[in-house]
Amino acid sequence: MEKSDAESELKAIHDRKPTFHNSDQPYILPNDSIEQSRLKKQHNAIVSLLHNRATTAPLHHPSTLIDIGCGTGLVTTLLASQHASASHIYGIDLVPVPASTAALAATDPRLEFIQGDIRSLLASDPRLRPGSVDFAFSRLLLYGMTDWPGYVASLFELVRPGGWAECQEFCDRFFYEATPSGAERKVGVGGEGGGGEGGEREGEKEEAVDVLDWEGWEWLRAYREGSAQKGLDLDCGMKVAGWMKDAGFVDVSAQEYRMPYWKGAAQEMGRPELREVADLLVGDPDGMFYHAFPKTVEGLDMGKEKIEELRRQMMRCLGEERGKFQTYWVVTGRKPE
Ligand SMILES: C[S@@+](CC[C@H](N)C(=O)[O-])C[C@H]1O[C@@H](n2cnc3c(N)ncnc32)[C@H](O)[C@@H]1O
Repeated sequence: MEKSDAESELKAIHDRKPTFHNSDQPYILPNDSIEQSRLKKQHNAIVSLLHNRATTAPLHHPSTLIDIGCGTGLVTTLLASQHASASHIYGIDLVPVPASTAALAATDPRLEFIQGDIRSLLASDPRLRPGSVDFAFSRLLLYGMTDWPGYVASLFELVRPGGWAECQEFCDRFFYEATPSGAERKVGVGGEGGGGEGGEREGEKEEAVDVLDWEGWEWLRAYREGSAQKGLDLDCGMKVAGWMKDAGFVDVSAQEYRMPYWKGAAQEMGRPELREVADLLVGDPDGMFYHAFPKTVEGLDMGKEKIEELRRQMMRCLGEERGKFQTYWVVTGRKPE
């Protein structure tokens, strides 16, 4: 990209004035129409990354399914079309789904969108009775969920014996690997739970380097510190498997997918679909990090100038670079009969 193109793109990102959820919610991402279209692109990229699947748990004629933090409702409506025999498919979110999704729900009596915080709905909504759900799914709650162990334990309560839960989450760390060695790994989740990191990777020795302590990544340390102060856990992806085991789930499986920050990764790794992922991430084209940053660090008592300095640093770090990646975790678990 020419320098002037990059500059005008950054100016467009900067000039956008997104809206956010109410300040009583820790949720740090915008909720305007640009964010809705970013979520659609992200949905498509993730489905590609997972080999054309939105969800991965092995379901057999589920009757009640729930999509927690459903956002655009794309997964909720997909679940409805994939499971014709299901009687109830619920999408839950803090904010209403887009009008086009709500209109779709109006044509399918099995589909229902419920507005509210899942943590309070689970205690109060009669549609979400303990043991009533065959499949509980959530994707990318990391920017809004506090108390992950409590949340995962409540999924265990909600799911019926024999039913499945699936959590798909980013890990907001950045890694480098000098010789990119693959796009996905199954992660062993044996041994005790304890909410620890995912566990040993199967196969080759891990050589990727975590950049968290590197000079030039001060923005990431601030981003993570600000998130932690809000009660968020940006490492939740790599910890979900441990929390599932602690909650009582069995057959827990965790898969780690690499999300590359260079567009040539698709060709290099023989995975054409990674191009869609890289297009979503490289340079933060939709300003997700850019607009989340000030909200994330608002409790850190940082002056406006410092925030701008770190934002500039962040945009440099999010640029195209071979070998740089983030990870995406897909974790499933079954409630014993
Ligand atoms: C990053 S978006 C992801 C949306 C959708 N799951 C997807 O993958 O496209 C996260 C969504 O979770 C919702 N959310 C966050 N915390 C929530 C909570 N405690 N209860 C219900 N929804 C929540 C937000 O409002 C937002 O729409």
